[in-house]
Amino acid sequence: MPHYLFLLDDLEEMSEQNLLQRFSGTFLRDVNLGVLLIDTEFRLVDISDMACRVLGFHKESILFKRIEDIFASIPPEHRLVERTLLDGRIVRNHAVSWMNNQERYELLLDSNLLRDNEDQIVGAYIIFKDVTNLRSLEAQVQRSDRLAMIGQIAAGTAHEIRNPLTSIKGFLQVLKKTFESKDMAKEQGYIDVMLDEINRVNELVNEFLLLGKPKNVLLQKIDVSTVIKGILPIINNEAILHKVHMNYEESSGLPPVIADQELLKQVFLNICKNGIEALTDGGTLTIVEKLDPDGRFVNIEVHDTGPGIPVYVIDKIFDPFFTTKEEGTGLGLSVCQRIIHDMGGHIRVSSKGYGTTFTVSIPCI
Ligand SMILES: Nc1ncnc2c1ncn2[C@@H]1O[C@H](COP(=O)(O)OP(=O)(O)OP(=O)(O)O)[C@@H](O)[C@H]1O
Ligand SMILES: [Mg+2]
Repeated sequence: MPHYLFLLDDLEEMSEQNLLQRFSGTFLRDVNLGVLLIDTEFRLVDISDMACRVLGFHKESILFKRIEDIFASIPPEHRLVERTLLDGRIVRNHAVSWMNNQERYELLLDSNLLRDNEDQIVGAYIIFKDVTNLRSLEAQVQRSDRLAMIGQIAAGTAHEIRNPLTSIKGFLQVLKKTFESKDMAKEQGYIDVMLDEINRVNELVNEFLLLGKPKNVLLQKIDVSTVIKGILPIINNEAILHKVHMNYEESSGLPPVIADQELLKQVFLNICKNGIEALTDGGTLTIVEKLDPDGRFVNIEVHDTGPGIPVYVIDKIFDPFFTTKEEGTGLGLSVCQRIIHDMGGHIRVSSKGYGTTFTVSIPCI
């Protein structure tokens, strides 16, 4: 009888081990979980498929290598794993950003020691989840809050600026006529400069007003290609001025979208203007139309072969008043984003070191 009992215990232990093994195997293959196992020599013993993908490593080339060597090309403060891990520094919900192939990942990381039955340290593990989507959602919510507040202030101020501007402009035009009748050419020139400047202020004020969204949005069924073709001459003109080559790939048979035509023009003009401004040494600006794979959006991609947007800038480009240009107001993209959001669409940007693509997605029927 005792003999049988022993066998039963043994079997239980085996099935428990089996279960644990399966559990760890599943863990390592889980598509959503990054796992790294490290031994006491600070060498990588195992790594999950997802971790390899996100970190951009080939499993075979890094297995059993020292962590310092694996992360050698990365500055110490950005490495995912630190040696202090083996000193028992437990990490919980630590947020880190990771760049791989110009793709930015936001990771949430836990790490801890592994001990044997005698409480001796035998290694350590790191587990992380990719929370990029969550983080960008959070940032977007914060941004639209800020935008709404700035918009209200800006729109209020803009109204107050526009009224006096209108009367100044009116009186200047009267003055110009007087100078004309008295053949005062120099003075007429001054007036022209003043009128030009007033127009510039007016344009700025109009952007402010849009930010506050008092304008009635007229959503209707429209054809995106027609809208783009309508503004193509303006973009072409701007491109020629900047010695930029321009490409437009029209796509036939796209479904109509629900949008405000005038506002949509403004969005494409702004984005194309940015693209052309980025092409200081010439280059190509390409506009491509596509239907989103799930058929719910028409996507307009505006691609430029410019220098791209640095990682430390890309998070801020939709913020109102963020600009890297001497003459810029930094309102272009924030206005674009507001307009497209109001239509139920979204704007994405991807910049892979060289060149930038803005994708405007507009809901279609
Ligand atoms: N295609 C691009 N290539 C490189 N950087 C870009 C591109 N588009 C936008 N940016 C960056 O984003 C910033 C914000 O753009 P945004 O259009 O909002 O303002 P701006 O162009 O600086 O000023 P404004 O549009 O008011 O003249 C720019 O200053 C620039 O740094
Ligand atoms: Mg701009």
